[in-house]
Amino acid sequence: MNREKVQIFDTTLRDGEQVPGCKLDTAQKLVIANRLDEMGVDIIEAGFPVSSPGDFLSVSEISKIVKNATVCGLTRAVKNDIDVAGAALKYAKKPRIHTGIGTSNSHIVHKLNTTREDIIARAKYAVSYAKSYVEDVEFYAEDAGRTENDFLARVCEEVIKSGATVLNIPDTTGYCLPEEYGAKIKYLKENVKGIENVIISCHCHNDLGMATANSIAGVINGARQIECTINGIGERAGNTALEEVVMILKQHPYLNLDTSINSRQLNEMSRLVSDSMGMIVQPNKAIVGANAFSHSSGIHQDGVIKNRETYEIMDPLEVGVTESSIILTARSGRAALAYRAKKVGYELTKVQLDIVYVEFLKFADLKKEVLDSDIHQIVEACKIEGDI
Ligand code: KIV
Ligand code: ZN
Repeated sequence: MNREKVQIFDTTLRDGEQVPGCKLDTAQKLVIANRLDEMGVDIIEAGFPVSSPGDFLSVSEISKIVKNATVCGLTRAVKNDIDVAGAALKYAKKPRIHTGIGTSNSHIVHKLNTTREDIIARAKYAVSYAKSYVEDVEFYAEDAGRTENDFLARVCEEVIKSGATVLNIPDTTGYCLPEEYGAKIKYLKENVKGIENVIISCHCHNDLGMATANSIAGVINGARQIECTINGIGERAGNTALEEVVMILKQHPYLNLDTSINSRQLNEMSRLVSDSMGMIVQPNKAIVGANAFSHSSGIHQDGVIKNRETYEIMDPLEVGVTESSIILTARSGRAALAYRAKKVGYELTKVQLDIVYVEFLKFADLKKEVLDSDIHQIVEACKIEGDI
Protein backbone atom coordinates (compact mmCIF):
# COMPACT_ATOMS: atom_id res chain seq x y z
CA MET A 1 0.00 0.00 0.00
CA ASN A 2 1.23 3.50 -0.86
CA ARG A 3 1.81 5.40 2.35
CA GLU A 4 0.91 9.11 2.50
CA LYS A 5 3.98 11.40 2.38
CA VAL A 6 4.97 13.67 5.24
CA GLN A 7 7.25 16.46 4.00
CA ILE A 8 10.52 16.84 5.87
CA PHE A 9 11.47 20.48 6.42
CA ASP A 10 15.02 20.66 7.72
CA THR A 11 15.94 23.74 9.75
CA THR A 12 19.45 22.66 10.86
CA LEU A 13 20.91 25.67 9.06
CA ARG A 14 18.46 28.16 10.61
CA ASP A 15 16.94 27.11 13.98
CA GLY A 16 19.82 24.65 14.51
CA GLU A 17 22.52 27.14 13.76
CA GLN A 18 21.07 29.59 16.33
CA VAL A 19 22.71 27.45 19.05
CA PRO A 20 25.62 29.27 20.73
CA GLY A 21 28.94 27.99 19.41
CA CYS A 22 27.39 26.21 16.41
CA LYS A 23 27.94 28.92 13.84
CA LEU A 24 28.92 27.66 10.39
CA ASP A 25 30.54 29.50 7.52
CA THR A 26 29.03 29.54 4.03
CA ALA A 27 31.29 26.76 2.74
CA GLN A 28 30.25 24.44 5.59
CA LYS A 29 26.58 25.29 5.03
CA LEU A 30 26.88 24.46 1.34
CA VAL A 31 28.28 21.01 2.13
CA ILE A 32 25.45 20.32 4.58
CA ALA A 33 22.74 21.68 2.25
CA ASN A 34 24.01 19.51 -0.59
CA ARG A 35 23.95 16.39 1.60
CA LEU A 36 20.45 17.20 2.91
CA ASP A 37 19.31 17.51 -0.69
CA GLU A 38 20.90 14.16 -1.60
CA MET A 39 19.33 12.50 1.44
CA GLY A 40 15.84 13.46 0.25
CA VAL A 41 14.89 16.42 2.48
CA ASP A 42 11.87 18.18 0.91
CA ILE A 43 12.53 21.71 2.21
CA ILE A 44 15.82 23.18 3.41
CA GLU A 45 15.47 26.25 5.59
CA ALA A 46 18.77 27.85 4.62
CA GLY A 47 18.75 30.82 7.00
CA PHE A 48 17.30 34.17 8.04
CA PRO A 49 18.64 36.41 5.24
CA VAL A 50 18.04 39.79 6.89
CA SER A 51 19.87 38.76 10.06
CA SER A 52 23.39 39.32 8.65
CA PRO A 53 25.25 39.70 5.33
CA GLY A 54 26.79 36.27 5.96
CA ASP A 55 23.37 34.65 6.29
CA PHE A 56 22.15 36.42 3.16
CA LEU A 57 25.14 35.08 1.25
CA SER A 58 24.59 31.54 2.56
CA VAL A 59 20.91 31.51 1.55
CA SER A 60 21.79 32.91 -1.85
CA GLU A 61 24.61 30.38 -2.47
CA ILE A 62 22.52 27.46 -1.21
CA SER A 63 19.72 28.56 -3.58
CA LYS A 64 22.15 28.19 -6.48
CA ILE A 65 23.35 24.64 -5.69
CA VAL A 66 20.29 22.80 -4.36
CA LYS A 67 18.88 20.56 -7.09
CA ASN A 68 15.71 18.98 -5.74
CA ALA A 69 14.59 20.50 -2.45
CA THR A 70 12.66 23.70 -1.92
CA VAL A 71 14.95 26.36 -0.43
CA CYS A 72 13.36 28.48 2.27
CA GLY A 73 14.32 31.76 3.96
CA LEU A 74 12.88 32.99 7.27
CA THR A 75 11.51 36.50 7.82
CA ARG A 76 9.56 38.40 10.42
CA ALA A 77 6.29 39.97 9.24
CA VAL A 78 8.30 42.99 8.16
CA LYS A 79 8.57 44.45 4.64
CA ASN A 80 12.36 44.79 4.62
CA ASP A 81 12.86 41.20 5.87
CA ILE A 82 10.70 39.97 3.01
CA ASP A 83 12.51 42.11 0.42
CA VAL A 84 15.86 40.73 1.59
CA ALA A 85 14.59 37.13 1.64
CA GLY A 86 13.11 37.58 -1.85
CA ALA A 87 16.52 38.74 -3.12
CA ALA A 88 18.42 35.93 -1.35
CA LEU A 89 16.13 33.29 -2.86
CA LYS A 90 16.34 34.72 -6.37
CA TYR A 91 18.33 31.76 -7.77
CA ALA A 92 16.39 28.96 -6.08
CA LYS A 93 14.61 26.48 -8.38
CA LYS A 94 11.88 26.15 -5.77
CA PRO A 95 11.93 29.16 -3.42
CA ARG A 96 9.79 29.54 -0.29
CA ILE A 97 9.44 32.51 2.06
CA HIS A 98 8.68 31.57 5.67
CA THR A 99 7.12 34.58 7.34
CA GLY A 100 5.12 35.03 10.52
CA ILE A 101 4.39 36.70 13.81
CA GLY A 102 3.64 35.82 17.46
CA THR A 103 0.02 34.93 18.17
CA SER A 104 -0.06 34.03 21.89
CA ASN A 105 -1.14 36.59 24.48
CA SER A 106 2.37 36.61 25.81
CA HIS A 107 3.78 37.62 22.42
CA ILE A 108 0.98 40.07 21.59
CA VAL A 109 1.06 41.89 24.93
CA HIS A 110 4.66 41.62 26.14
CA LYS A 111 6.77 41.24 23.03
CA LEU A 112 4.82 43.22 20.45
CA ASN A 113 2.69 45.44 22.73
CA THR A 114 -0.23 45.41 20.32
CA THR A 115 -3.72 43.97 19.72
CA ARG A 116 -5.07 40.80 18.12
CA GLU A 117 -6.53 42.81 15.24
CA ASP A 118 -3.14 44.33 14.51
CA ILE A 119 -1.54 40.84 14.54
CA ILE A 120 -4.03 39.67 11.92
CA ALA A 121 -3.44 42.76 9.79
CA ARG A 122 0.36 42.32 9.94
CA ALA A 123 0.11 38.59 9.21
CA LYS A 124 -2.08 39.18 6.14
CA TYR A 125 0.19 41.92 4.89
CA ALA A 126 3.32 39.78 5.26
CA VAL A 127 1.84 36.83 3.39
CA SER A 128 0.44 39.00 0.56
CA TYR A 129 3.72 40.87 0.24
CA ALA A 130 5.79 37.65 0.24
CA LYS A 131 3.54 36.42 -2.59
CA SER A 132 4.90 39.24 -4.75
CA TYR A 133 8.27 37.40 -4.63
CA VAL A 134 7.36 33.70 -4.53
CA GLU A 135 4.36 31.47 -5.03
CA ASP A 136 5.17 29.26 -2.04
CA VAL A 137 4.64 31.17 1.23
CA GLU A 138 4.69 29.49 4.62
CA PHE A 139 3.17 31.35 7.56
CA TYR A 140 4.28 30.67 11.17
CA ALA A 141 2.11 31.58 14.13
CA GLU A 142 4.89 31.92 16.69
CA ASP A 143 4.02 30.39 20.08
CA ALA A 144 0.97 28.68 18.56
CA GLY A 145 1.42 26.05 21.28
CA ARG A 146 0.23 28.61 23.87
CA THR A 147 -2.20 30.44 21.57
CA GLU A 148 -5.93 29.98 22.19
CA ASN A 149 -7.32 27.72 19.48
CA ASP A 150 -10.14 30.01 18.37
CA PHE A 151 -7.80 32.97 17.77
CA LEU A 152 -5.23 30.73 16.10
CA ALA A 153 -7.94 29.45 13.77
CA ARG A 154 -8.89 33.04 12.86
CA VAL A 155 -5.29 33.92 12.04
CA CYS A 156 -4.91 30.76 9.95
CA GLU A 157 -8.08 31.46 7.99
CA GLU A 158 -6.98 35.01 7.20
CA VAL A 159 -3.50 34.06 6.01
CA ILE A 160 -4.92 31.29 3.82
CA LYS A 161 -7.12 33.94 2.18
CA SER A 162 -3.97 36.02 1.64
CA GLY A 163 -2.30 33.13 -0.18
CA ALA A 164 -0.36 31.09 2.39
CA THR A 165 0.47 27.62 1.06
CA VAL A 166 1.75 26.14 4.33
CA LEU A 167 0.65 26.85 7.91
CA ASN A 168 3.32 26.34 10.54
CA ILE A 169 1.95 25.74 14.06
CA PRO A 170 5.05 26.04 16.28
CA ASP A 171 5.20 24.88 19.85
CA THR A 172 7.88 27.53 20.25
CA THR A 173 8.40 26.98 23.98
CA GLY A 174 8.13 23.17 23.95
CA TYR A 175 5.27 23.29 26.44
CA CYS A 176 2.44 21.26 24.86
CA LEU A 177 1.62 17.68 25.76
CA PRO A 178 1.30 15.38 22.73
CA GLU A 179 -2.48 15.03 23.26
CA GLU A 180 -2.82 18.81 23.45
CA TYR A 181 -0.69 19.48 20.37
CA GLY A 182 -2.48 16.77 18.38
CA ALA A 183 -5.85 18.19 19.43
CA LYS A 184 -4.74 21.66 18.28
CA ILE A 185 -3.98 20.35 14.78
CA LYS A 186 -7.31 18.49 14.74
CA TYR A 187 -9.14 21.66 15.83
CA LEU A 188 -7.57 23.64 12.98
CA LYS A 189 -8.41 20.91 10.46
CA GLU A 190 -12.03 21.03 11.59
CA ASN A 191 -12.50 24.76 12.08
CA VAL A 192 -10.45 26.67 9.50
CA LYS A 193 -12.07 27.39 6.13
CA GLY A 194 -9.77 26.53 3.24
CA ILE A 195 -7.42 24.41 5.35
CA GLU A 196 -7.84 21.48 2.95
CA ASN A 197 -5.89 23.52 0.36
CA VAL A 198 -2.77 24.05 2.49
CA ILE A 199 -0.23 21.89 4.30
CA ILE A 200 -0.14 22.05 8.09
CA SER A 201 3.36 21.95 9.54
CA CYS A 202 4.60 20.91 13.00
CA HIS A 203 7.52 22.86 14.48
CA CYS A 204 8.14 21.59 17.99
CA HIS A 205 10.80 22.48 20.54
CA ASN A 206 12.16 20.07 23.09
CA ASP A 207 12.08 21.99 26.39
CA LEU A 208 10.24 19.15 28.13
CA GLY A 209 11.63 16.38 25.92
CA MET A 210 8.40 16.10 23.92
CA ALA A 211 9.33 17.60 20.54
CA THR A 212 9.33 14.29 18.68
CA ALA A 213 6.18 12.99 20.41
CA ASN A 214 4.38 16.26 19.64
CA SER A 215 5.39 16.20 15.96
CA ILE A 216 4.14 12.63 15.63
CA ALA A 217 0.87 13.60 17.36
CA GLY A 218 0.64 16.43 14.82
CA VAL A 219 0.93 14.17 11.77
CA ILE A 220 -1.43 11.59 13.26
CA ASN A 221 -3.98 14.41 13.44
CA GLY A 222 -3.51 15.64 9.90
CA ALA A 223 -0.32 17.72 9.65
CA ARG A 224 1.76 16.75 6.61
CA GLN A 225 5.05 18.55 7.23
CA ILE A 226 7.52 18.21 10.11
CA GLU A 227 10.16 20.87 10.83
CA CYS A 228 13.21 19.30 12.37
CA THR A 229 16.99 19.35 12.67
CA ILE A 230 19.77 16.79 12.43
CA ASN A 231 20.61 15.48 15.92
CA GLY A 232 17.71 17.60 17.26
CA ILE A 233 19.92 20.66 17.66
CA GLY A 234 18.27 24.06 18.08
CA GLU A 235 17.33 26.84 20.47
CA ARG A 236 17.59 25.87 24.17
CA ALA A 237 16.80 22.11 24.41
CA GLY A 238 16.57 21.88 20.62
CA ASN A 239 14.06 21.00 17.93
CA THR A 240 12.44 17.75 16.83
CA ALA A 241 15.21 15.39 15.64
CA LEU A 242 14.90 14.57 11.94
CA GLU A 243 16.33 11.06 12.34
CA GLU A 244 13.75 10.24 15.03
CA VAL A 245 10.61 11.24 13.13
CA VAL A 246 11.87 9.59 9.93
CA MET A 247 12.47 6.27 11.68
CA ILE A 248 9.27 6.42 13.75
CA LEU A 249 7.19 6.73 10.58
CA LYS A 250 9.24 4.04 8.85
CA GLN A 251 9.00 1.57 11.73
CA HIS A 252 5.25 2.04 12.27
CA PRO A 253 3.68 1.16 8.90
CA TYR A 254 0.16 1.03 10.36
CA LEU A 255 0.28 4.86 10.61
CA ASN A 256 0.32 4.73 6.81
CA LEU A 257 2.75 7.68 6.67
CA ASP A 258 6.26 7.88 5.28
CA THR A 259 8.93 10.35 4.20
CA SER A 260 11.23 10.58 1.18
CA ILE A 261 14.38 10.40 3.31
CA ASN A 262 17.03 7.80 2.46
CA SER A 263 17.46 6.63 6.04
CA ARG A 264 20.73 4.85 5.25
CA GLN A 265 22.38 8.28 5.13
CA LEU A 266 21.22 9.30 8.63
CA ASN A 267 24.34 8.30 10.53
CA GLU A 268 26.75 9.97 8.16
CA MET A 269 24.58 13.09 8.14
CA SER A 270 24.58 13.15 11.93
CA ARG A 271 28.38 12.94 12.02
CA LEU A 272 28.76 15.66 9.40
CA VAL A 273 26.61 18.11 11.38
CA SER A 274 28.19 17.17 14.70
CA ASP A 275 31.73 17.58 13.33
CA SER A 276 30.99 20.82 11.45
CA MET A 277 29.35 22.43 14.49
CA GLY A 278 31.62 20.89 17.13
CA MET A 279 28.43 19.71 18.89
CA ILE A 280 28.84 16.25 20.41
CA VAL A 281 25.94 13.79 20.06
CA GLN A 282 25.03 12.21 23.39
CA PRO A 283 25.96 8.47 23.27
CA ASN A 284 22.42 7.38 24.19
CA LYS A 285 20.78 9.57 21.52
CA ALA A 286 18.06 7.66 19.65
CA ILE A 287 19.05 6.43 16.16
CA VAL A 288 22.43 8.18 15.83
CA GLY A 289 24.03 7.97 19.30
CA ALA A 290 27.18 5.82 19.62
CA ASN A 291 25.28 3.39 21.89
CA ALA A 292 22.06 3.22 19.85
CA PHE A 293 23.01 -0.26 18.59
CA SER A 294 25.41 -1.37 21.35
CA HIS A 295 24.58 -4.12 23.79
CA SER A 296 26.53 -4.49 27.00
CA SER A 297 24.60 -6.49 29.59
CA GLY A 298 24.97 -10.29 29.49
CA ILE A 299 21.22 -10.96 29.21
CA HIS A 300 20.78 -8.56 26.27
CA GLN A 301 23.94 -9.77 24.53
CA ASP A 302 22.85 -13.39 24.73
CA GLY A 303 19.45 -12.43 23.23
CA VAL A 304 20.91 -10.34 20.39
CA ILE A 305 23.52 -12.95 19.48
CA LYS A 306 20.73 -15.57 19.20
CA ASN A 307 18.43 -13.23 17.27
CA ARG A 308 19.05 -9.53 16.67
CA GLU A 309 15.34 -8.67 16.91
CA THR A 310 15.18 -9.76 20.55
CA TYR A 311 16.51 -6.36 21.57
CA GLU A 312 16.56 -4.32 18.34
CA ILE A 313 13.45 -2.81 16.78
CA MET A 314 15.24 -1.74 13.62
CA ASP A 315 18.07 -3.02 11.47
CA PRO A 316 21.17 -0.85 12.06
CA LEU A 317 21.86 -1.00 8.31
CA GLU A 318 18.64 0.96 7.76
CA VAL A 319 20.19 4.00 9.47
CA GLY A 320 23.68 3.52 8.06
CA VAL A 321 25.30 1.57 10.90
CA THR A 322 27.13 -1.50 9.55
CA GLU A 323 26.42 -3.76 12.52
CA SER A 324 25.29 -3.81 16.14
CA SER A 325 28.12 -3.95 18.65
CA ILE A 326 28.59 -6.30 21.52
CA ILE A 327 30.52 -4.39 24.16
CA LEU A 328 32.52 -6.46 26.62
CA THR A 329 32.29 -5.34 30.22
CA ALA A 330 32.18 -7.04 33.61
CA ARG A 331 28.41 -7.39 33.01
CA SER A 332 28.95 -9.52 29.87
CA GLY A 333 28.34 -13.24 29.80
CA ARG A 334 30.03 -16.20 28.11
CA ALA A 335 27.96 -15.83 24.93
CA ALA A 336 29.32 -12.32 24.35
CA LEU A 337 32.90 -13.35 25.12
CA ALA A 338 32.69 -16.35 22.75
CA TYR A 339 31.18 -14.11 20.03
CA ARG A 340 33.88 -11.45 20.29
CA ALA A 341 36.71 -13.99 20.70
CA LYS A 342 35.56 -15.69 17.48
CA LYS A 343 35.60 -12.33 15.70
CA VAL A 344 39.28 -11.87 16.59
CA GLY A 345 40.21 -15.44 15.60
CA TYR A 346 39.66 -17.71 18.64
CA GLU A 347 37.14 -20.52 18.29
CA LEU A 348 36.88 -21.59 21.95
CA THR A 349 35.48 -24.94 23.07
CA LYS A 350 33.03 -24.91 25.99
CA VAL A 351 35.77 -26.00 28.42
CA GLN A 352 38.21 -23.37 27.09
CA LEU A 353 35.52 -20.70 27.28
CA ASP A 354 34.87 -21.49 30.97
CA ILE A 355 38.56 -21.04 31.73
CA VAL A 356 39.03 -17.86 29.69
CA TYR A 357 35.81 -16.41 31.14
CA VAL A 358 37.18 -16.57 34.70
CA GLU A 359 40.29 -14.62 33.61
CA PHE A 360 38.13 -12.25 31.54
CA LEU A 361 36.01 -11.31 34.59
CA LYS A 362 39.09 -10.52 36.68
CA PHE A 363 40.32 -8.28 33.88
CA ALA A 364 36.93 -6.69 33.18
CA ASP A 365 36.45 -5.70 36.83
CA LEU A 366 39.48 -3.43 36.45
CA LYS A 367 38.42 -1.84 33.15
CA LYS A 368 35.40 0.02 31.78
CA GLU A 369 35.51 -1.97 28.53
CA VAL A 370 37.44 -4.99 27.31
CA LEU A 371 38.88 -4.40 23.85
CA ASP A 372 40.00 -6.77 21.07
CA SER A 373 43.64 -6.31 22.13
CA ASP A 374 42.66 -7.30 25.68
CA ILE A 375 40.98 -10.49 24.41
CA HIS A 376 44.23 -11.47 22.69
CA GLN A 377 46.15 -10.79 25.90
CA ILE A 378 43.75 -12.85 28.06
CA VAL A 379 43.56 -15.83 25.68
CA GLU A 380 47.31 -15.88 25.02
CA ALA A 381 48.02 -15.71 28.78
CA CYS A 382 45.73 -18.73 29.32
CA LYS A 383 47.68 -20.60 26.60
CA ILE A 384 51.07 -19.85 28.22
CA GLU A 385 49.76 -20.98 31.60
CA GLY A 386 48.75 -24.22 29.87
CA ASP A 387 45.15 -23.71 30.95
CA ILE A 388 43.82 -24.02 27.39
O1 KIV B 1 10.13 28.19 17.24
C1 KIV B 1 9.59 28.99 16.46
O2 KIV B 1 8.47 29.47 16.69
C2 KIV B 1 10.32 29.37 15.25
C3 KIV B 1 9.60 30.19 14.25
C4 KIV B 1 10.44 31.35 13.84
C5 KIV B 1 9.19 29.34 13.09
O3 KIV B 1 11.44 28.95 15.07
ZN1 ZN C 1 11.87 27.21 16.37
